[in-house]
Amino acid sequence: MNRRAQQKAAHVTTRRLLDMKQNGEKISVLTAYDYTMARILDRAGLDVILVGDSASNVFSGHSTTLPITIEEMIYHAKAVVRGVQDESGRAMVVIDMPFMSYQLSGEEALRNAGKIMKEHECDAVKLEGGRVIADTVKRITDVGIPVMGHLGLMPQSIYKYGSYRVRAQEEREAEQLLEDAKIIEESGAFAIVLEKIPSALAAEVTRSLTIPTIGIGAGVECDGQVLVINDILGLNREFHPRFVRQYVDLNTVVEHAVRQYVEDVRLSQFPSADESY
Ligand code: KIV
Repeated sequence: MNRRAQQKAAHVTTRRLLDMKQNGEKISVLTAYDYTMARILDRAGLDVILVGDSASNVFSGHSTTLPITIEEMIYHAKAVVRGVQDESGRAMVVIDMPFMSYQLSGEEALRNAGKIMKEHECDAVKLEGGRVIADTVKRITDVGIPVMGHLGLMPQSIYKYGSYRVRAQEEREAEQLLEDAKIIEESGAFAIVLEKIPSALAAEVTRSLTIPTIGIGAGVECDGQVLVINDILGLNREFHPRFVRQYVDLNTVVEHAVRQYVEDVRLSQFPSADESY
């Protein structure tokens, strides 16, 4: 088998995620926005890389996910797909559809989902919303583009909520979320992200659906977990929500390395003879 065929055989598909749910195997998901990180995540055996619109925050420095454009998402997506292809090619790559790229009309949503899929070889798109976007999800999946849903705290609606607090704590909102999850599944989605909702509700949604749920701040009973890569690497000093597990303090590590470099340059201790030609 040549390299491309090997990559294809190992590649995580929507079918594989469904099998994982049925077999009780947990699905690991992280965000990535660039080539180098995508290579590391794929090499480490991650199942799904999400090119999240959180790039708007952690890559571009905006305070919300709203400003990022479809062209910027495609730029990040191309780099991530190239990274995966240059490693094992195993990880599935899902791209967030940015704010206002799918809300105006089904036709526009389809055009933009098609644009994202056509520009590079990604696997799926992700859309935020419940029953309101059900027809759009159906329209996109009907032409063969896999859709991941996103319920609970939906960062593109932050101005409507007014805060990033836990969603669906009241019975009415919880019931609505459960119904929305079923509607999005019926519309053809292959998985649903559940963000910042009570664990008991996430567990109920997970039991009620055939497709996998991917939790972020939604407890351990989801079929998989997703976090923002910058958060688990400790790159952002200011952001420490309860649902993030920080595995390393790269902010301090990088700062320390750069301080040493600055010092070495100032003292003419870099480059050495060995580092020169
Ligand atoms: O944009 C993003 O990073 C996300 C995850 C947090 C689920 O949507």
